[in-house]
Amino acid sequence: EKGGHPTFMDKEIAEQPQALADTLRGHFDGTRIVLDEQRLGEDDLRTVDKVFVVACGSAFHSGLVAKYAIEHWTRLPVEMELASEFRYRDPVLDRDTLVVAISQSGETADTLEAVRHARRQRARVLAVCNTNGSQIPRESDAVLYTHAGPEIGVASTKAFLAQIAANLMVGLSLAGALGTKYPDEIGREFAELEKMPQAVADTLALMEPVRQLGRELADARAVLFLGRHVGFPVALEGALKLKELAYMHAEGFAAGELKHGPIALIEDGLPVVVVMPSPRAQPLLHSKLLSNIREIQARGARTIVIAEAGDDAVAPFADTLIELPVVPALLQPLITTVPLQILAAEIARSRGYDIDKPRNLAKSVTVE
Ligand code: F6R
Repeated sequence: EKGGHPTFMDKEIAEQPQALADTLRGHFDGTRIVLDEQRLGEDDLRTVDKVFVVACGSAFHSGLVAKYAIEHWTRLPVEMELASEFRYRDPVLDRDTLVVAISQSGETADTLEAVRHARRQRARVLAVCNTNGSQIPRESDAVLYTHAGPEIGVASTKAFLAQIAANLMVGLSLAGALGTKYPDEIGREFAELEKMPQAVADTLALMEPVRQLGRELADARAVLFLGRHVGFPVALEGALKLKELAYMHAEGFAAGELKHGPIALIEDGLPVVVVMPSPRAQPLLHSKLLSNIREIQARGARTIVIAEAGDDAVAPFADTLIELPVVPALLQPLITTVPLQILAAEIARSRGYDIDKPRNLAKSVTVE
């Protein structure tokens, strides 16, 4: 049942190219992005003037990634909200608000209650979900299913990548309805997405040095993760994976925040994973990250750098350099997440932990 893999998590990491391909398949009809269930018309989407995205844990991080793309493509304000916080404040919602609820299980109580709250305020709700017939899609106005297949490992991997792809399709669907993108532009973005299963497969083939690194880091006390722009949610996800699986203190930061506090944590030998933006596509951010890396290396950090292949400028400052395929900037999280999943799994395994069933965690959290 694990298809020759030692754990479900290893199997599910390996299945990520397929999960992405299955999630994308059939969703572009040559003109627009096709949702799976739509109990609201194009007209309803046309009047949307604000988007809230609600989710928990990894699903929240997938939404944070997509926020950058959805704002860029639609020019609508997009607010990312932890589902557990959303209804306990007084969010400003009305008929022209679209609430996107992301949930692998479709049964997460915090997210379900956020959906109910939104609907009581007459907002429209679109669910991104991996489980057919689960509660969140049942209570939503529209649904886009991720087709990651059943995820048995408690820590989310393939569902997370599929969520990012689906969230991006939500953005393209909205951009189509609002007219901020023409069908041919949507087609071009979708074609880039369709190349990602191969890019993830190519990334998976490069992971042996990451496994080796995981074994070396088994005794580390803590690990920090830095990123910017779409690399920031990847840093958060990398840290969450490490907490969940290896029970290690791990934190993700937006690298620009470093000097506002976290740099005080840097000490000799502390492993710091840095998700580099592309030097080609994001030169300004790249140079900012480069100076961050120099700062932390000068203070003794052990720098582990996830970079685009051919990023020669960063190489001298990387104690370990993991080079990944070149992909469009907004899609980078689909590949930069992979080494962080594998790093967390390998550290946890080296420490002797059951990576499919981390302590204290349940696969679906049906209580608030
Ligand atoms: C992390 C993880 C959790 C879930 C979160 C939301 O590896 O699995 O953080 O992402 O509990 O679950 P769903 O997506 O089922 O609503």
